[in-house]
Amino acid sequence: MTLESAGHPLLRQEVAKLHLVNPDDVLIITPQEGIYIAMHCLVDYFSRTYGDDRSHVITTYPAYQSLYENLHTLRCQVDYWMVKESGDGWYFDMADLRQLIRDDTRLLVVNFPHNPTGYLLPEDQWREIIEICERRNIFLFSDEMYRLSNNDQSAPLVSACTAMTNSVTLFGVSKTLALPGLRIGWLCTKHSTLMTSMKSFRDYITICCSAPAEILALIALRNKNEILKRTLAIIEKNLHLLADFFREYEDVFEWRAPRACTTGLVKLKGWLLRLGNGGAKGFCERLQEEAGVLMLPSAVYEFDDNCVRLGFGRTDLKYALIALREFLRRNKP
Ligand SMILES: Cc1ncc(COP(=O)(O)O)c(C=O)c1O
Repeated sequence: MTLESAGHPLLRQEVAKLHLVNPDDVLIITPQEGIYIAMHCLVDYFSRTYGDDRSHVITTYPAYQSLYENLHTLRCQVDYWMVKESGDGWYFDMADLRQLIRDDTRLLVVNFPHNPTGYLLPEDQWREIIEICERRNIFLFSDEMYRLSNNDQSAPLVSACTAMTNSVTLFGVSKTLALPGLRIGWLCTKHSTLMTSMKSFRDYITICCSAPAEILALIALRNKNEILKRTLAIIEKNLHLLADFFREYEDVFEWRAPRACTTGLVKLKGWLLRLGNGGAKGFCERLQEEAGVLMLPSAVYEFDDNCVRLGFGRTDLKYALIALREFLRRNKP
């Protein structure tokens, strides 16, 4: 029973091969559930190990909301490693991270490739993060949901769970493997105490994933090269479409193509920021109402209200761009 509720043995075997860990280091979950489980078990572990009442944690920001909200709910002291902007686009500054780390920092939560900016940390900086975490005994939670989406042909960063014991990797089939409806992902860690507590915590939530979905995920993983080829071809084509589009509209958008991911954060300029109630939120509301195109205003990330997140992982992007062009033509002052 315990073995099966952690996920189908063949699926765990396949996942283990992907991250170079043991099948016992793999827990099959639904991605959102995985974040919830890992954060609860990590904070509990810090409380038991260090007697923490309010652990100090650092998370990349802006971020997928549950990566930091769970930690707030668990009364952690949460510091944000904020994204920055340079002439080349969005990036995370290692000097900022070093400054945020305290003697009692327990956990660093990162997400590379990064949703929403599409930023991919350079490999030497990833190695430095692992070295810092190991030296300072900081646990690393690595959300790798957009793994294998490097659109510049570079190799993916080594998974955190492969590189160090005090780490957890989250990955799944929703993004680059194009199967979000299966609701299948996994947590991997070589930290056996943490894995044991995550497995039992999970017994009080969903107990296990849907068996048919696990089998489909297994088939997908066994055919991942074919699926990835398709995903990367869609991304490449869409990046060309976006490059053409933003060249045409550079008076109102500031776009730098990300190195990875299927999302990007675009800055708005000029009259676009004066539509509706103003800001990126005003633009997105009008765009959704009048053109049926959905973009996320950066305010939903509690970030400056002058950017929008767009997704380019789907084949229907070309239709969204047609509707967006028409919207811009109609609304241009
Ligand atoms: C960074 C990140 N982590 C986790 C998830 C959760 O994945 P899922 O789509 O399978 O719920 C998402 C979903 O968008 C995400 O962007």
